[in-house]
Amino acid sequence: KKPVITVIGSLNMDLVTVTKRVPEQGETVLGEKFHLIPGGKGANQAVAAARLGAEVHMIGAVGSDTFGELLKRQLDNEGIFIDGVKPVTDVETGTAMITVSDGDNRIIVVPGANYALQPEDLEQHEAVIAKSDICLLQLEIPLAVVERAVALAKKHGVFVILNPAPAQPLPPALLEQIDLVTPNEHECGIIFPEQDREKWAAKLVVTEGARGVSIIKNGKHIIVPGFRVPVVDTTGAGDTFNGALAVALSKGMELEEACRFGNAAAALSVTKLGAQGGMPTEKEVIQLLEAAKGEGS
Ligand code: RIB
Ligand code: NA
Repeated sequence: KKPVITVIGSLNMDLVTVTKRVPEQGETVLGEKFHLIPGGKGANQAVAAARLGAEVHMIGAVGSDTFGELLKRQLDNEGIFIDGVKPVTDVETGTAMITVSDGDNRIIVVPGANYALQPEDLEQHEAVIAKSDICLLQLEIPLAVVERAVALAKKHGVFVILNPAPAQPLPPALLEQIDLVTPNEHECGIIFPEQDREKWAAKLVVTEGARGVSIIKNGKHIIVPGFRVPVVDTTGAGDTFNGALAVALSKGMELEEACRFGNAAAALSVTKLGAQGGMPTEKEVIQLLEAAKGEGS
């Protein structure tokens, strides 16, 4: 049976500029390329999961504008259910201005329509949430919506993963209900002050870029190592990891194995430009995992 994953989160149009050098304040430089690429952490994680074979339902909001139409069409092309993507008037579709230089990025997100999603909007999607194996959330929509989504999911015993990006302090009552929290190291520092990190350790999956991810296994911290690949663009690597992690866990993999699967998917994603560019199919992930086994790593 296909894993069923509901993503409640953002859709952004990514305006990506590739440049050799990032300008200083007040300076103009000539860039190399411009790309208009579908993104947003919610949509990215939805696409990652769909490419890996899951039935994916997207809940979010876009403006009644060209970007909104393009983003919905893109998800539809990926086979994702978009009935839960609400059109809003008066607010523009979310955007992300991204500068890619030397494989690294700088991003300015303007949430726009993503912030028009309201807790009440979720009520009509309760049946979809209830039948999901996993609900996957991020923090590019209002926290009140995240809280309602988590409450609805838990009401139906659905496993919840929160990718707390971009980071903001989170109420302990919310964290208690969530099954897995997947910050990067920076986000982890903002959300979990050192002194009470151990308290949450059992549900923490901390992504550490190319190094891999840190989890707890049999009461001990371990690193599930990443894969070495040529980097073109790291944008969306975390999203790919989260989408893949959700698929792997839905299929019944243990956390460590699921993280390895997620690491392989994320590694493949950074070899191509754009958050959704390079997001692999299940076959490609398995190939990379097999090849790595062959090398004994
Ligand atoms: O995680 C990458 C995403 O963050 C980009 O697609 C951009 O839209 C920002 O939201
Ligand atoms: Na990519």
